[in-house]
Amino acid sequence: MPADKSFYLTTPIYYVNDAPHIGHAYTTLMGDILTRWHRQRGERVWYLTGTDEHGQKVLRKAEASGVEPQAWVDRLVETEWKPMLETIDVANDDFIRTTEQRHIDGSKAFWEDLYARDAVYKGEFAGWYSVGSEEFVGDDDVTPGEGDDAGSMVSTLDGSRVEQVTEENYFFRLSDYQQRLLDLYEQQPDFIAPASSRNEIISFVRRGLRDLSISRSTFDWGIEVPWDDEHVMYVWIEALLNYVTAIGYGTDEERFEELWPAVHLVGKDIARFHAVIWPAMLMAAGRPVPHRVFAHGWLLVGGQKMSKSKANGIHPDELVAVFGSDAYRYYFARALTFGSDGSISYEDIHARYHADLANGLGNLASRVSAMIGKYFEGSLPAAGTVTSAEQAVIDLAATAVADADAAIEALAPQDALNSIWRLVDALNGYLAEQAPWKVAKEDLDRTATILATAAEGLRALAVVLAPVMPKAMAVLWDSLGATEAIGPLADQRIADAGRWGQLPAGTPITKSASLFPRIEESKVEESSAEA
Ligand code: MSP
Repeated sequence: MPADKSFYLTTPIYYVNDAPHIGHAYTTLMGDILTRWHRQRGERVWYLTGTDEHGQKVLRKAEASGVEPQAWVDRLVETEWKPMLETIDVANDDFIRTTEQRHIDGSKAFWEDLYARDAVYKGEFAGWYSVGSEEFVGDDDVTPGEGDDAGSMVSTLDGSRVEQVTEENYFFRLSDYQQRLLDLYEQQPDFIAPASSRNEIISFVRRGLRDLSISRSTFDWGIEVPWDDEHVMYVWIEALLNYVTAIGYGTDEERFEELWPAVHLVGKDIARFHAVIWPAMLMAAGRPVPHRVFAHGWLLVGGQKMSKSKANGIHPDELVAVFGSDAYRYYFARALTFGSDGSISYEDIHARYHADLANGLGNLASRVSAMIGKYFEGSLPAAGTVTSAEQAVIDLAATAVADADAAIEALAPQDALNSIWRLVDALNGYLAEQAPWKVAKEDLDRTATILATAAEGLRALAVVLAPVMPKAMAVLWDSLGATEAIGPLADQRIADAGRWGQLPAGTPITKSASLFPRIEESKVEESSAEA
């Protein structure tokens, strides 16, 4: 990415037919960890998330609840979707709602551009539509439903019910873009990742593309087509536009130029919209395509994709109430491979919380500060002669930080945490071996070297773990007296984190409240029972 460009990252915008569950929170959380890391590198960053509020799915839910759609979405956004960001401690720069005027204006401008370039024409659509996934479904992809769906047709793509629609619609000339899209995937091999999604997309496009219906004319909960008030924009086409309307498309060209193109994080279910339709629309409008689209896998609960309709949807609050937002963030980043499906369970979160956080990192931090309190009256001692034991820690810190940084670049936060945990484990091993509590009885100079080394290790950890566990690392930074000594945590750079000897001797070290207090089993059981 050119140095003068911002790192612009987006999440999907979420349907507000219901409250969020941890599957939605997952994409937003991973984006937050990545963008916080890029900020910690000193880059300019723009992180966008938001809500997808138009379309039949939301409309029907509002109607079924006897509420006007606008009132429905206003309430859910304010009471559920925005608070979710606070619950999991997300530092997004912007939040776009598709009912906002800036989105309406920008979307209309984009349509005008498509129309002017002859990418759109009027036609008749007759076929299947799934309101559940807001998707036109081809004849080959529907089959008679079974069980609860008996008597209806369902989509073989995701099992959602489909209905027959015959409408006069506007179409987008998607079929014109087959070769240009294939060229794009070839010339920019990481345009769509991971490989499983890339292969799926390429074979989908190779099979041939049909023009796409992009307006609806049988209901009006949407944005009017600028030249035809009988039509509203098809919700997916309008939703994709959020990525450009939020940064000034059609309203603030300078800002748009500064931020576009973006990196899009999406769940693998919606990779096709982002890696096929969206770049084709941008090509048609004469605009650059996204940098890349990264498709992650499913959170599975009890082996099944978690979703509200299966009643296995867990609200982020339920976990954060027990483990806190930092441990929640750590768990999803460390325990799952970004890009693959992964199972989660209360037992697993509980086990990792105690092994990695309470016993691993938390214990390390509290022992070091307690011993500096006990043997050096809370003042960081100067390190003396460095032996091979210290040198091993110093070298490992430099490689762990560099490896973690490379992992983030490769969109692999779990690898970044694995690297960082090599340092946590090494520091715990170093303390166990050096046993400063024993050495202190006969050699305070040596004790000083051991504890100064451990404190430096904690300093480095606080910097590289701040993007993952911002609250706990702020507490750790405080207890290391680091703000006064070397400046605010936010100003520390990843590239510099592994450089040794930054905390000066004499820095006041205080014992903080336990970073990760132990959690009784009963609390977890209560919460499991509620879920
Ligand atoms: N509104 C569209 C997206 C438009 S983007 C221009 C939509 N919304 S959604 O509410 O259904 O959310 C979809 C996203 O939520 C998925 O792509 C994924 O990022 C996330 N997840 C929803 N359930 C999930 C899991 N069980 N596991 C992981 N992520 C999941 O589609």
